[in-house]
Amino acid sequence: MTARTSTTTPAGAAGPDGSAQPLAGLIVDRHVNAADRAVNLARDVLAGLTGNPRELPPKWFYDATGGMLFDEITRLPEYYPTRRERAILDSHAGAIAAACAADTLVELGSGTSEKTRLLLDALRADGGLRRFVAFDVDEATLTQAGRSLIATYPDLAVHAVVGDFERHLARLPGGGRRLIAFLGGTIGNMRPAQREAFLRALREQCGSTDALLLGTDLVKDPDRLVAAYDDGAGVTAAFNRNVLTVINRELGADFDIRGFAHVARWNAADSWIEMRLRAVRDQQVTIDSLALAIEFQRGEDLLTEISAKFTRDGITAELADAGWAVAQQWTDPEGDFAVTLATPSTAPSAAPV
Ligand code: SAH
Ligand code: TRP
Repeated sequence: MTARTSTTTPAGAAGPDGSAQPLAGLIVDRHVNAADRAVNLARDVLAGLTGNPRELPPKWFYDATGGMLFDEITRLPEYYPTRRERAILDSHAGAIAAACAADTLVELGSGTSEKTRLLLDALRADGGLRRFVAFDVDEATLTQAGRSLIATYPDLAVHAVVGDFERHLARLPGGGRRLIAFLGGTIGNMRPAQREAFLRALREQCGSTDALLLGTDLVKDPDRLVAAYDDGAGVTAAFNRNVLTVINRELGADFDIRGFAHVARWNAADSWIEMRLRAVRDQQVTIDSLALAIEFQRGEDLLTEISAKFTRDGITAELADAGWAVAQQWTDPEGDFAVTLATPSTAPSAAPV
């Protein structure tokens, strides 16, 4: 892995056109620049579209449009996870704050950080919160959220980190007592081996006074699960197809996005929802930056996302394997979603052989 230069910009100083921004004080660290992004996208698309089965990593959904579409998803009637997780934080943020007494809240895959305000409020009421670090690959959504948080919490140091949580965890700002929040069920978008590597890497970054707050969706009636990823208004379908728009724009491809249908299915054996794009007819796609032409047969699928659903015991076991001890676990009254507070266990268990 190549070391990348990161730039720290006081985003309040000047806008892209040199105009003064209304809110000074947002610190932005960039661990991904445009060139870096292009190289990684090209690599993922080449591997993913020439492989069998065809598959793309989910982080490429999230450009400025993808971030907006996801925000719309969180308000859809069928998409219960955001409401359930918010209900849990509403009821238990005080207990979470009291248990960890953090002076720094770090949020991974922070997006709009909307629900996170409940944690910020509780940690401030508890007395010690000084700093909020938001970490996301989508710079547009991240900096917008950062500015909005500074407006609400003028005495809070807000630090936005543009990075990939599978590559740049070691760049997380350290110091103090940190609560690391990873909400929204985003951990479920990784496969089990990736989750374990991620949780171990995070454990290695954490000291004995740090804690992890993990939001996970729980196994339930498959009809409700599928509806949450295939809404009636077609927002999830637009979000899914957005990855093709990103590839068209950034790699000079010519995907006809109407040539692909959105499919969500429950994979019971692996306990995850699969999001696919299915070719509605035979077609050829060219990707200029890769000098590549790809044939899709009618009915052929491209897997764009998995969203794993957990059990409470399963979460505890996965955390334990990666060196985390569960301190407390909460669900909403319906038992749809879980939020788990964990602390580093004395020593991470040995890596599996
Ligand atoms: N935490 C928010 C947003 C969840 S959507 C919520 O609970 O509603 C997932 C978020 O993770 C998006 O903002 C996306 O940009 C970000 N993300 C996805 N993959 C990422 C990666 N590899 N590194 C950093 N951020 C990532
Ligand atoms: N972390 C979210 C989830 O798994 C991401 C998500 C929600 C998503 N809806 C989606 C990703 C639709 C792709 C397509 O629930």
